[in-house]
Amino acid sequence: MILEGRVAAVTGAAQNIGKAIAMSLAGEGAQICVLDINLREAEATAEEINERGGRAVAHKVNIADFDEVMALVPKVLDSFDAVDILVNNAGITRDNLLARMSEDEWDSVMAVNLKGAFNCCRAFCRPMIRQRGGRIVNIASVIGLTGNTGQSNYAASKAGMIGLTKSIARELAPRGITVNAVAPGFIDTAMTQALGDTIRENLLSRVPIRRLGHPEDVAAAVTFLASDRAAYITGQVLNVDGGMVM
Ligand SMILES: NC(=O)c1ccc[n+]([C@@H]2O[C@H](COP(=O)([O-])OP(=O)(O)OC[C@H]3O[C@@H](n4cnc5c(N)ncnc54)[C@H](O)[C@@H]3O)[C@@H](O)[C@H]2O)c1
Repeated sequence: MILEGRVAAVTGAAQNIGKAIAMSLAGEGAQICVLDINLREAEATAEEINERGGRAVAHKVNIADFDEVMALVPKVLDSFDAVDILVNNAGITRDNLLARMSEDEWDSVMAVNLKGAFNCCRAFCRPMIRQRGGRIVNIASVIGLTGNTGQSNYAASKAGMIGLTKSIARELAPRGITVNAVAPGFIDTAMTQALGDTIRENLLSRVPIRRLGHPEDVAAAVTFLASDRAAYITGQVLNVDGGMVM
């Protein structure tokens, strides 16, 4: 097991990609702090990990709230003594065409996806700096690289996350902390199941591997980047998209 003895905090781990990441890290021996705004489902993820013989604790947090995230760190350290891995996975969409996009649709996506990632990096880098090591993996999106009609807010937030990743990778490298981004493509989750058949078929025709990604495909990349095997990789964006963007 490549993550034996490590502690990982995963945001948005109540369902879908975040849950798959939490399960995969736990499967490699990491203890998991399941963070989500949805406490009931976060507790269900933690319970599943504990039932499989791992160790997990759930905490409710709104990652968009700076003070709430700062206050979370001592609670996590109370349960686990250290935080070795942070995965910033929680994210939302509020799609609309630019001409119709409300201020709230713009602000809420930036608050959760971009400021939320900043808040968590800011809060959890302190214990990592003290420990002289750590891993941060930010879940961006290929949309942050290509842009997408109706997703200017989401694309801007994910592109911002990539800039955040590269900047703090430079800052934290001398402290033994690597920071990378994983950019999923078209993953089979509620987010993509909500799209109509025509849009799905159209998107699929642009994927050379000719299938949707599974949450486990994203989780495998995160698990690698969180491990010692990725010790010499920092500031990178790893696309997990079946070859959609290359
Ligand atoms: N599904 C895809 O095809 C796809 C593609 C590219 C990137 N992504 C990214 O992957 C990540 C996970 O996507 P998903 O499809 O699993 O999403 P999802 O909506 O299924 O899950 C997101 C989780 O984040 C939590 N969350 C939302 N706002 C929060 C907040 N303010 N504070 C704490 N937790 C909050 C939700 O409760 C939920 O459990 C997102 O960042 C998303 O942008 C997804």
